[in-house]
Amino acid sequence: MIDVEALRADTPGVDHVAHFNNAGAALMPTPVIRAIYDHLDAEIRMGGYEAREAHEKQAEAAYGSLAAIVGARQSEIALMSSATTAWDMVVYSLKHRPGDRILTTTTEYGSNWAAYLQLRDRYGVEVVVVPDSDEGEVDLAALQSAIDERTSLISINHMPTNSGVVNPAAAVGKIARAAGVPYLLDACQTVGQMPIDVDAIGCDFLTSTSRKFLRGPRGVGFAYVRTDAGYLLDPVFADNHSTAVTDEQIEFRADARRLETWEKSWSNVMGLGAAADYAMAIGVDAIWQRVQLLSWMMRQSLADIGGIELRDRGSVQGAIVSFTVDGRDAIEIADLLRQRSINASYSTVNSSPVDMRLRGIDSLVRASVHAYNTEDEVERFVHAIREIAA
Ligand SMILES: Cc1ncc(COP(=O)(O)O)c(C=O)c1O
Repeated sequence: MIDVEALRADTPGVDHVAHFNNAGAALMPTPVIRAIYDHLDAEIRMGGYEAREAHEKQAEAAYGSLAAIVGARQSEIALMSSATTAWDMVVYSLKHRPGDRILTTTTEYGSNWAAYLQLRDRYGVEVVVVPDSDEGEVDLAALQSAIDERTSLISINHMPTNSGVVNPAAAVGKIARAAGVPYLLDACQTVGQMPIDVDAIGCDFLTSTSRKFLRGPRGVGFAYVRTDAGYLLDPVFADNHSTAVTDEQIEFRADARRLETWEKSWSNVMGLGAAADYAMAIGVDAIWQRVQLLSWMMRQSLADIGGIELRDRGSVQGAIVSFTVDGRDAIEIADLLRQRSINASYSTVNSSPVDMRLRGIDSLVRASVHAYNTEDEVERFVHAIREIAA
């Protein structure tokens, strides 16, 4: 059982706002804030390089904590400035040939979709959108039958940006393994929200961010690269950290850090490591139970309000609650909530172009819960929506 009061005592932001934008950026807890400050303070007092040297153990521990929270080895983690950078570093470092087929989902994130279109235009790869099942997650039978000898990558999200559906990541992993196709999982919305084990999932690559359900700082993300999948990657960039470089040649590192560049915001890295430790100390299982409960409560109550249409699909649903209000723009709804000291967000066509077009939705409200939210806050949210929709 989660001690919600203890979580809130750790979270200065809850005194100011009912925060339902955890799928955007969650409120940071004190241990994360302290880790960031401590490193910044060391940089101020000692100098940036000297602070990094003094905190060598903590820096390595951050890689270890990220590895632990996804069930990986430390050598399989690379630090990046965002989930998109991590995802791009993996995807653009794979070999692409004309006629290659990348299989993805209807709900692919806008930036990932943009990258596919660039790869299509640059290399002549074909991007295949696997349809959803009736429940709303990626259809496994359709995925299976979409695979052929030209399939070069299966690339899906664990949970999209604009709904609470959980895609069956491990079942997809089985299909990918059996077919011998590399498998990339965009877990930007799920690390810190639900238990993740890269071995159980069977993905070769996984990417995520710090600022969402992990509750770390902005401006940092990471990639997991399975040790025996690293050979598939020919990094788009080479620098003197990712390679051993001489005046004649380069040799890329064997571990995931072959995707990194040297310079980093180490205070952010310290914050991210502390965030992973914090989530594991609470128990990611317990977080998952609680966000499922709170989001279920929110959906149940919203369903009773006239003019509200819930937009979440999927047989398993997590922390993201998505809905539309008849005839109203979601951006306006988010603004009206903000005026009531309630944070929520919205998704537009730009967030998930294929899904929004297929469902004929221009914008939807995205309210995303975390374990530190209370039942009272959920009620406050629902009450505000009832007023706004009236
Ligand atoms: C499913 C999904 N993937 C990727 C991203 C991109 O994350 P970042 O903004 O850290 O690059 C997001 C951001 O909202 C997302 O929701």
